[in-house]
Amino acid sequence: MFDFEGISMTRCFTDNWEKVQNFQARPDDILIATYPKAGTTWVSYILDLLYFGNDDLERQTSQPIYMRIPFLELCFQEFSTGTEMADNLPTSPRLIKTHLPVQLVPKSFWEQNSRIVYLARNAKDNAVSYFHFDRMNMVQPEPGDWNSFIQKFMKGKNVFGPWYDHVSGWWEKKQTYPNLLYLFYEDLVEDTGREVERLSSFLGLSTSVEEREKIIKGVQFDAMKQNNMTNHVTLPFMDFKISPFMRKGKVGDWKCHFTVAQNEQFDEVYKQKMKKTTVRFRTEI
Ligand code: A3P
Repeated sequence: MFDFEGISMTRCFTDNWEKVQNFQARPDDILIATYPKAGTTWVSYILDLLYFGNDDLERQTSQPIYMRIPFLELCFQEFSTGTEMADNLPTSPRLIKTHLPVQLVPKSFWEQNSRIVYLARNAKDNAVSYFHFDRMNMVQPEPGDWNSFIQKFMKGKNVFGPWYDHVSGWWEKKQTYPNLLYLFYEDLVEDTGREVERLSSFLGLSTSVEEREKIIKGVQFDAMKQNNMTNHVTLPFMDFKISPFMRKGKVGDWKCHFTVAQNEQFDEVYKQKMKKTTVRFRTEI
C-alpha cells in the first residue's frame, strides 16, 4: 500500500491510471460508485436486472457480475483492465463500477453528465465487512487483528482511503450534480422494493410491478448467496474457507465485533471527522 494523491492505494488500482483518467464516458453510462464493502455487488445486480434482466438469459446464467459490470480502475495480472472491459462492453447503457473518491473520478463522467448511483453504508458495518474482506481476499493487504484494523480504518489508511471523506465527498457532490442518486445500504435492507422504485425512477425506466417483484426476489441476500454469478465463488484469489463474500448482509452486525471501549473510541473519532458534513447514517434499523 502507498499514498496516491493523498489516498492509500495498491498498484491494482493505480497501474492503469493514465487510461483511467482519460477514460471516455458516454452520456448514457451509469457509474456505480461506492466505498468498498458498502453493497456494491448488490446495487450492481439490481441495476443489471433493471436494464438487462428480461432480455438476455445468457448474461444472467453464464457471466459473473464482475464481467458484466467492469471495475473501472482495476488492473490485475492477466485479467483485462477495467478500462479495456468498459471500452469493449457491447451493452447500452454501460454499467461501470468504481470505488474512487469523488475527486479522482475521470472528468469525462462530469462532462458527459452521466448518471451516477452512489451507495453508502454506515461506518461500523462497513468496517466490519471490510475487515472480513481483507482476510479472505488475497489481493488485499493483510488486515491484522480486528483492533489493529479499526485503528487503521479510523486513520483512513485502508485501500481507497478514509471512509469519512469518501461518503461526505460524494454527499457534497450531490448538491451540485443532479444526476447523482445517493442511496444508503440501510434503506435497501429496510425496504428493497422502495429503493428499487427510486432507482428505476431516477433512471427513467418504466418497470412493471411484476418485473420489480422478480428483481426484488432475485436480489435477496440468500438468492445472491446461492447464485454463482453474484457470490464471487469464481474468483481464484478469494478464500471462502476464511470468509464468504456474501457474508451476513445485515445492519448492526458491528455489535458482534466492537467492544464497548472500541465503540466509544470509534464514536469520538466519528464525531470529529464528520462534523462538517450533513450526511447521516443509521447503525441499526
Ligand atoms: P457483509 O460482509 O456485512 O455481509 P461489496 O459488494 O461492496 O463488496 O459489499 C459486500 C457487502 O454487501 C457484504 O456485507 C455482503 O454480504 C453485502 N451484500 C451483498 N449482497 C447483499 C444483499 N442482497 N443483501 C444484503 N447485503 C448484501
